[in-house]
Order: sequence, then C-alpha cells, then structure tokens
Amino acid sequence: MKSAPSPRNRTLKILPEEREKLLAGLSAPTKKLSPPEIRNRLFKGDLFSLAGFFPSSCVDLMILDPPYNLDKEFRSSSFRKKSASDYLAYLKSFLCPLKRLLKKEASLYLCGDWNSCGAIQQALEECGFFIRNRITWQREKGRGAGKNWKNCSEDIWFATCAKDYFFDAGAVKIRKKVIAPYREKGRPKDWREEKGEKYRLTFPSNFLNDITVPYWSMPENTPHPTQKPEKLMAKLILASSREGDLVFDPFCGSGTTLVTAKKLSRDFCGIEREEEYCLYAAKRLENASSDRRIQGYDGEAFLERNASFPEKS
Ligand SMILES: C[S@@+](CC[C@H](N)C(=O)[O-])C[C@H]1O[C@@H](n2cnc3c(N)ncnc32)[C@H](O)[C@@H]1O
Repeated sequence: MKSAPSPRNRTLKILPEEREKLLAGLSAPTKKLSPPEIRNRLFKGDLFSLAGFFPSSCVDLMILDPPYNLDKEFRSSSFRKKSASDYLAYLKSFLCPLKRLLKKEASLYLCGDWNSCGAIQQALEECGFFIRNRITWQREKGRGAGKNWKNCSEDIWFATCAKDYFFDAGAVKIRKKVIAPYREKGRPKDWREEKGEKYRLTFPSNFLNDITVPYWSMPENTPHPTQKPEKLMAKLILASSREGDLVFDPFCGSGTTLVTAKKLSRDFCGIEREEEYCLYAAKRLENASSDRRIQGYDGEAFLERNASFPEKS
C-alpha cells in the first residue's frame, strides 16, 4: 500500500481544475514574434521548430540546461546517450541557431556534467562564443558508484558573444561566518555583526559549495526529474543581467530560470515541449507574483548551504 505523503511535503501539485487556466497562453507561435511579444512568455513546443519565430538580437542572458549525455526520460519524450561526436553535433544544432537571438553583449550559461565537458567546450568554441569560465557546483546528493568516484558535482560553462560583457560580481557575494573575528583599533576588520552573528561578505569563486538540490520539503520542489535550484540560477542571473533585461531559457523544464528571473525583476522567456512541465512552470510563475523569496538568498547576499528560508516580508 502507498504511504500517505508527509504533511511537510511541499512538492508542487497541479489540481485538475487548474490545468486549463495554466495552459492558456502557452501555445506555440505560428508567425514571427516581435521583441515585446516574447517578454514574460512561456512557449509550449519544440525549440527546433520555434526558434525561427523568435526575433534577432533581443536576449541579454541565455541559460541552457539541455538533456545531459545520458539516458533520461522526460514524460512523453526521452534522451538517449550518444557518442561524444553525436552529442557535440546535438549541442551545435541548437547553439548555432540560438546565437542569432542574443544581443551583442549578451552572456550565456550552458549546464552539463563531467562527461559532456569536452563536447561543450568544443561546441561553444565552434559556434564562435568566448568561453569565460567553467563553474562547478557541488551536489549534496551524488550518484553512488561501487567502482568509481561518486558523482557529486556538475558544471556550468560561462561564455559571452563578445569581448565586452556585463558582469556584477558584487551582486553575488556570499555571507560567510567569521571564524577568527580580527579587530583593528577595536573595530571589526572586514566583518559585520548582526543578531549575534559575525559574518563577512565574500566574492564568489567558480566552485559553488552552498547549493542544495530541491527536495520534497522545499517549496520550490516539483516532480521534474532534473530540476535546478533557484539559488543556483539566481547567481547566474544576478551576475550576468540587469533588472529589466531579458533572460531566455530554451529548455526550461519546470521553469526554474524563468521563475528566478521574475523574482529578481528581470523579464523572462522560456520554451519547453512537455505539457506537464509547462504546467509546473506556469504555476510557479503565478506563485512568484506574490512570493519572491529565493531560498538561500537574503536580497543582499547568498547564505551558506541549508540556511533557513527567509521570512515572508
Ligand atoms: C535538463 S531539463 C531542464 C530542467 C530545468 N532547468 C528545470 O529547472 O526544471 C531539460 C528540459 O528540456 C526539455 N527539452 C528537451 N528537448 C527539448 C526541445 N527540443 N524543445 C523543448 N524542450 C526540450 C525536456 O523536456 C526537459 O524538461
């Protein structure tokens, strides 16, 4: 017998009576869209069929989280592991056409794992992007393996279209507890004290060890099989876009990029081909109208892993 879900389980649920309303307005375009027509929109459909309808030079930041090179089911569709050269061809098949949508000074982040890193680097280079960095983020829960190292990290490649680009390192500072609170002439040296806690705001590195993968008791959790954490997307969005900029995610899944962009006062646009995932994204976007909190971010800096959820203001 199936046990009853825990009362603390906050995984998003779509009620049958909500479906129709949530799906309204998600249909795929049938004619070319103007730049204002793609702002704050989620399109249901296949990106390869839809990309041609999108206007050129309109996106400030593109975040791509395509299927990794492994076998994975996504509701009615699935992805099958490919040879390295076929995965490279797959990456180029969307990176090259989507480049047209980016503004001259736009940035791009492309998610992957250790196994796809060679193909990702090559695809970005061959599509003419400037690679700026590779961020590695630590997943608390790794895929265990008896005869290998447990896979406990993923990568996000950071690239730009041009030599000039926007980057705001000050917007993604980390709030770290101070172990040795030095003072100079009686005054705190580079640290502050608030509610009895001594902390310092530090600049981020390309290794993120403060990320929690969404799980059942987190309000952002959905049944999507590869949902990214809002805190992770918030770092990319805050560092590489300004308020009002357009953030685009062509593999948007449960809508994490779009929801986080909305919470941070950016415009968003996303494409997802699975109806069920579109529903999760649409409902999360609706919820974000009244609750802009991002777990692990206090509006000024990022908190250490598993920090409590900020109070609703
Ligand atoms: C790795 S998941 C993205 C998860 C997402 N970042 C989130 O937080 O929920 C990749 C998504 O791309 C979608 N997808 C794969 N191929 C697609 C295509 N050709 N067009 C549109 N969506 C596609 C899949 O259905 C899946 O939801």
